[in-house]
Amino acid sequence: MTTLRHFNRLLMAFTLVLGLVNTVSAAPSERQLTLFSNNCLQCHAAPHISAPQLGNPDDWEDINAQGEEIVLKHVVEGMGGMPPLGYCSACDEQDLRQLIYLMTGMQPSVQSSTQHSKESL
Ligand code: HEC
Repeated sequence: MTTLRHFNRLLMAFTLVLGLVNTVSAAPSERQLTLFSNNCLQCHAAPHISAPQLGNPDDWEDINAQGEEIVLKHVVEGMGGMPPLGYCSACDEQDLRQLIYLMTGMQPSVQSSTQHSKESL
């Protein structure tokens, strides 16, 4: 009986955590990680290309200072050697925001992570 109650409590805690992850979109999904490696890393983990490099905070300092919305706009529309959508035609807005967090090290802002629409694309 005690074990069951313990299990129930664990289950509740787990559900709560899952719920939080869902609303705040803190963690990328497996699908988003695949989109990231298939579409972004060919340039952003390739030092011979002029793209800012993944895992190199110096490359991202000025970019991140622009704020998430401007960076998202650049990713959607493309800029310089950065192709529109980073070639990720399967990415929706939420995916792109998640990939930007992964790429730049930016933290999701509460306001933007609650948007699930494609409206601003
Ligand atoms: C063909 C190569 C290429 C691919 C593919 C690519 N990028 Fe880029 N990206 C670049 C280059 C080059 C720049 C620098 C552009 C500049 O500063 O003119 C850039 C810049 C950026 C920036 C900074 C934008 C800003 O505001 O300065 C972000 C964020 C970014 N890329 C994210 C992504 C994501 C996410 C993906 C995958 C969905 C991706 N990129 C795919 C080449 C690429």
